[in-house]
Amino acid sequence: MHNWPMPEEFVRQSLELHLFWARIMKEHMIFLESGFMGKDQMLIQEADGFKCQFEKILHEAICLADGKISAKVLKSGELFTNMTLRAEEKTQDLTCIPIATQLTVDTMNLRPAKGHCGCGCGGHGHGQDHMHGPGMEDGFEHGHNPGHGHNPELIPPPWDQAVVEQVKALNEKAYSCACALYDFTKKVLEEIKCCNIFSWNFPSIYHHQLEETEMYKKQIQSLKSCHQMDPTHYMVEMQKFWDHIMMEHAEVMSHLFDPQEKDWIKTAQEYAKEYERLLSQFSNQVQLPNLHRITNETIALTEAFKQYKAVGTEGILCCRLRSLILPLLADHLLREAIHYLGILGMPLPEFKGGKG
Ligand SMILES: [Fe+2]
Ligand SMILES: [Fe+2]
Repeated sequence: MHNWPMPEEFVRQSLELHLFWARIMKEHMIFLESGFMGKDQMLIQEADGFKCQFEKILHEAICLADGKISAKVLKSGELFTNMTLRAEEKTQDLTCIPIATQLTVDTMNLRPAKGHCGCGCGGHGHGQDHMHGPGMEDGFEHGHNPGHGHNPELIPPPWDQAVVEQVKALNEKAYSCACALYDFTKKVLEEIKCCNIFSWNFPSIYHHQLEETEMYKKQIQSLKSCHQMDPTHYMVEMQKFWDHIMMEHAEVMSHLFDPQEKDWIKTAQEYAKEYERLLSQFSNQVQLPNLHRITNETIALTEAFKQYKAVGTEGILCCRLRSLILPLLADHLLREAIHYLGILGMPLPEFKGGKG
């Protein structure tokens, strides 16, 4: 375990964590809300209340994040893709569940920290009109405003003690909200398992959401305790968690496509098998050279799965693909794959006698 090196690292990692996970949490509540029966008004309201709580956390994270997070995360597509806004609007129209689309616009307008522009312009001081688009690769638009001006005065400093204190308070608030959300999801799942409630979301989806909430809580906890894991141990833990999550995405997607969409179902089943195979390699202690090989394999598979999800999201948004998948759920699954690719791209320690 390592102590935090710099306060700006603590601020950056905390804010990047909330910008990703608080959005994921509020979307979970939108999906649960959309799947309840009309008679379960209390549950609908409770889920909506949690959605609002996480919208507030996301709003606070956005207010603090301008000029403090990395360009890599901003541009990756894990916070928003080039379909997120359209997916939110369409889902709002289809479900009548209010979705705070302004939070997405505000996230798209965030600027990276000094020295983190990542656009090759050598600077960091973009003007107020600077607009970062989603991931640069694979057909995601860069979204870089050609008219952006360099104006360092407009960028707040990366951190000061007041910001550190605000971020600490946000971590506390997000942690207690995530705990309450976990309890709510678990309570509803128990009722579903006893057949007291009917939901159009599979019990497995509830269980999946619980696992993701648990991960969010765990990551806030390690920020709060100011400790970081050894990079190799962290990578193994992350791959075990995210391979399992990707496998469940593939399994659930295979069940949510219309039975007529045979090719999509078959491909989803193949992805589920591939992630299961990767997971089996972690059944024993993994040595570093093997971890490099497994990681490279996982990157290739997850790149392909991301592409499959991106095409699927566009198909669902344009009404070309028949399914029980809300457009925002499709985009949500895509962002989780992009987030995982970001983790897989983290450096691993060098090892002798092999290629990293
Ligand atoms: Fe999720
Ligand atoms: Fe997920």
